[in-house]
Amino acid sequence: MPITFLEDKKIFKLDTSSSTTILKIWDEGYLLCLYYGAKIPDTSFDGYEFRDWASSFSPRNEVIGENAFSPDTAPLEYSGFGTGDFRKTAAAIRNADGNDATDFRYVSHTVSPGVKKPAGMPGLWTVNESDAETLDILLRDRTTGAEVTLHYTVFADHPAVVRFVTLKNASDKPLDIEKLYSASVQLTTMDFDFVHLYGRWGAERNMARSPIEHGHTSISSTRGSSSHYHNPFAALVRHGATEDTGEVYGFNLVYSGSFDITADADYYETVRLNMGINPDGFLWHLEPGETFDTPEAVLVFSEEGLGGMSRAFHRLYLEHLIRGKYRTEKRPLLINSWEAAFFDFDTDKLVSFAERAREIGIDMLVMDDGWFGRRNNDTCSLGDWWVNEDKLPGGLGVLIDRVNALGLKFGIWYEPEMISPDSDLFRAHPDWCLHVPNRPNSIARHQYVIDMSRADVRENIWAQIDAVLSKYKIDYVKWDFNRNLSEAGSALLSAPHGEEIFHRFVLGTYEIMGRLTETYPDLLLENCSGGGGRFDPGMLYFSPQIWASDNTDALERIAIQFGTSLCYPASAMGAHVSMSRRTGFETKGNVAMWGTFGYELDPNRLTEKDLEIVKGQVTEYHKYYELIHYGDLYRVIDPWDDAYRAAWEFVSPDKREALYTEVVLRYRHCPTHFVRFKGLDPEKTYTLEGTDQKYSGALLMKAGLNLSRYPAGCGASFKLHFVAD
Ligand code: DGJ
Repeated sequence: MPITFLEDKKIFKLDTSSSTTILKIWDEGYLLCLYYGAKIPDTSFDGYEFRDWASSFSPRNEVIGENAFSPDTAPLEYSGFGTGDFRKTAAAIRNADGNDATDFRYVSHTVSPGVKKPAGMPGLWTVNESDAETLDILLRDRTTGAEVTLHYTVFADHPAVVRFVTLKNASDKPLDIEKLYSASVQLTTMDFDFVHLYGRWGAERNMARSPIEHGHTSISSTRGSSSHYHNPFAALVRHGATEDTGEVYGFNLVYSGSFDITADADYYETVRLNMGINPDGFLWHLEPGETFDTPEAVLVFSEEGLGGMSRAFHRLYLEHLIRGKYRTEKRPLLINSWEAAFFDFDTDKLVSFAERAREIGIDMLVMDDGWFGRRNNDTCSLGDWWVNEDKLPGGLGVLIDRVNALGLKFGIWYEPEMISPDSDLFRAHPDWCLHVPNRPNSIARHQYVIDMSRADVRENIWAQIDAVLSKYKIDYVKWDFNRNLSEAGSALLSAPHGEEIFHRFVLGTYEIMGRLTETYPDLLLENCSGGGGRFDPGMLYFSPQIWASDNTDALERIAIQFGTSLCYPASAMGAHVSMSRRTGFETKGNVAMWGTFGYELDPNRLTEKDLEIVKGQVTEYHKYYELIHYGDLYRVIDPWDDAYRAAWEFVSPDKREALYTEVVLRYRHCPTHFVRFKGLDPEKTYTLEGTDQKYSGALLMKAGLNLSRYPAGCGASFKLHFVAD
């Protein structure tokens, strides 16, 4: 069983496939984390104790004894603000007396099979209860009566623990939550680098790595969405650990709103990492008896470097986060109209795309932005989700029938969380956007944010979407989100609930996305936010794929895809071949093949030569679909380490097949270019497809091959496919 409780020692031992966590109930009910790291077999822990080392400036708990214990230095598992712990604490609860002193102590615990999930939020799931076990530890603040339950779901076959926290106001007076992190993680050293993903529009998820320093190392969003700028992912990587070796702790928050991940390296050189909803812009009011759930935090541990951590996240998300028919069923190969036509299309033009697409072997036409209201540019009509018959005479039915008659499926674009000031909906309901009294609303991309916290607003938007989806044969929805939240207030929320809006907005979005996927289980949902501005596990729970970036230049995409792959599987990465100019179609195809693969161009503009290449790509898409969608990813040449090349490899779970792809970023004359392949079976003999060359997995991994005879010009690329006998 993954969870053991040693009654005599008051120790919990949480064993995943390759990590162990040891928690101990200390004197006076303080819950301590004695260890989190590589798996250890011990079951007795005699003499394995916590020793306090507090300084004279550290507040003491007198009941325990003058020098025996201080919350300032003890490895507290879930620490409260203002009661002697001066580090970044996990929680601060403002009580009816007007202070926010918080101090949680152990009350009881339960262990149950399977998972627990936070109310109204996405979460990891299991089919078989034996896949995971959940420990719930109840702690109480003895003064206010506030109770937290720490939930730990421990996966038996993955190196993963999933955590969240429930706060219950078990007192008879109101409480306000000022901060409540999903997880607080204590590590016994600060010998780490902090790895995270930063970016911007068109350049999302670049990897940054820097040593932890004394003090706070932090990434966050206050934008109301997870954002282009920081991803809700971080890793603590042991100094010296590499892509393939060494200890890595990976952290990812299952949340699509404002978040915070902060590592606090203290004066005794231990680290506490807190992750959860960003306390900036958050205050949640609880009347007696009410509860609040945090989002889930996913903790993954690897002794095989960053690569091992990534593969652990990928497998966990493929098996326990992504849902619906397209988790396992082959997804349609699509062509999207955005870069082909932007707002300038009509039925005939779209049908002409579909005609050429059919010839190429594409399965689905997606009509992007511009089909509704009076939308001929981005200045109007969000919220008016009725078809623009000037563009689509006879309506959607005519278009869809013509596309379906060609044998193609049909997909459509929505941006449900937004409202244009120039829209019928806004003119009828000017209070339906987020706004605060007596302050003008900021505008971004000519739009306001709709108030998703309001049930009546959600009902209206849902009814409009449902009217279309229930009437027409629509196989795919692209759900876009093109600005962040400012002046975040709701006409229906006032004190003491006013500052709940950021989180209530996210809950509203989750509710309507849940409704969409439940009502239309056959629909393929792709999330998007001005490219990859909301690429997070919360979104992945609803949509098995997310558009990774509006930047479709193959060479720039490489860094975006490398970064994204740190945490998210290839099958989640929306990636298309476009008309971008810097490389030929071979390289565009090779790069997009790392992700979901598709097209974003006017197929009638392809030259005969490019058309042949594209047809070949479609064949390859089918050939490598399983390997890429369900295989293990190995990053072989990292564009951040090597200015000249980038390379990655997919290996099938049974190790019988591997696909290596390399792209030349800059030309460099050199007669040797040895590459050591990864993840193969040393005992197997592999044939390099298209040749009669046979190599052992051991040779390919230890000696490698000199690939200098393959294309080496800037922007060139090639693939090597190895198949075992
Ligand atoms: C931003 C998306 O990332 C694009 O792919 C496209 O859908 C536009 N929005 C449409 O406005």
